[in-house]
Amino acid sequence: MSKVTVSAPGKLHLSGEHAVVYGNPAVVVSTSLRLYVTLTASAGSAFGDVRKNDPFIDAIAAVFEKKMGKPIASSLGFAITSTIPVGAGMGSSAALAVALIGALSQWYGFPWEPKLINELAYQAEKTKHINSSGSDPAIVTHGGILWYRRELDFLKTFWLLPFKIPKMFAPFVLVNTKRKESTGDLVSAVAKYQKLHERQFILLRDAFEQTTKQMTQAIHDEDEQLFRRMITQNQRLLEKLPVVSREATAFIRAVEKAGGAAKISGAGGVAKGSGVVITTHSEIGVLQQLADTFGYKPFQTVLGGDGVRVEQMTA
Ligand code: MEV
Repeated sequence: MSKVTVSAPGKLHLSGEHAVVYGNPAVVVSTSLRLYVTLTASAGSAFGDVRKNDPFIDAIAAVFEKKMGKPIASSLGFAITSTIPVGAGMGSSAALAVALIGALSQWYGFPWEPKLINELAYQAEKTKHINSSGSDPAIVTHGGILWYRRELDFLKTFWLLPFKIPKMFAPFVLVNTKRKESTGDLVSAVAKYQKLHERQFILLRDAFEQTTKQMTQAIHDEDEQLFRRMITQNQRLLEKLPVVSREATAFIRAVEKAGGAAKISGAGGVAKGSGVVITTHSEIGVLQQLADTFGYKPFQTVLGGDGVRVEQMTA
């Protein structure tokens, strides 16, 4: 083998982030933004050096080596390219774990097993934040729209929804409000909140679950009005947790005032921005103008594409 390229998509949480860490469901969707890992016999940086300098890549490699019983050659050529914004709630680290494990398994001649790739990526993610729900690696591995629920660490259930985001829904505009904290920091902040407000948290989790269910129904029924109401409802619930910044809230309120709906997606952020905000409005121009007013660069992505896939294999 002289070259292998494997890619994995970025993701968005349409509903249920954070609650999914506590066993409630989330609806997650893949995007057309992708991360590519290329392994070569020679060219590129040597994998051994990259590992030494990047604890997450080292953790992914260690999980692979342990499970597959195959030491990774430190001379292996390694390169990443990506269009997924980093640390913005779009699953860039899950995409890296999934694509790298997929590429390594191809390089060393193992069968293509998305289920195993997902599980190993989940183990690697847990080295970043111990309480990972596993929803990120699952959607990045399988693609499409996923109904996901972690019952127990060894019992993670998901269902690939057999429908798409309806074509008649207005396209989503994404805005990266950036963030300072890591996903682990934000998951820990929610854990602290849960300890302090146990009763409210139980009610909140239930409200998240109802919202996730209604949103899934809205996608199924192609009911855009209900879908938008659930985006707003999910955002309001997230605002009760310490995960949404003042800046992101101000932008989201402006979108709502202009007749649209918006929510953060993924872990969020409080110190500065809250990562990527999903916005929707019947007139895209309104969203672009608002983003401009707030100094954000809007961008678009197609939702619901392929999960992990082999792009190239050269003997
Ligand atoms: C992060 O993308 C989503 C969270 O729900 C954490 C997780 O599910 O592991 C915040």
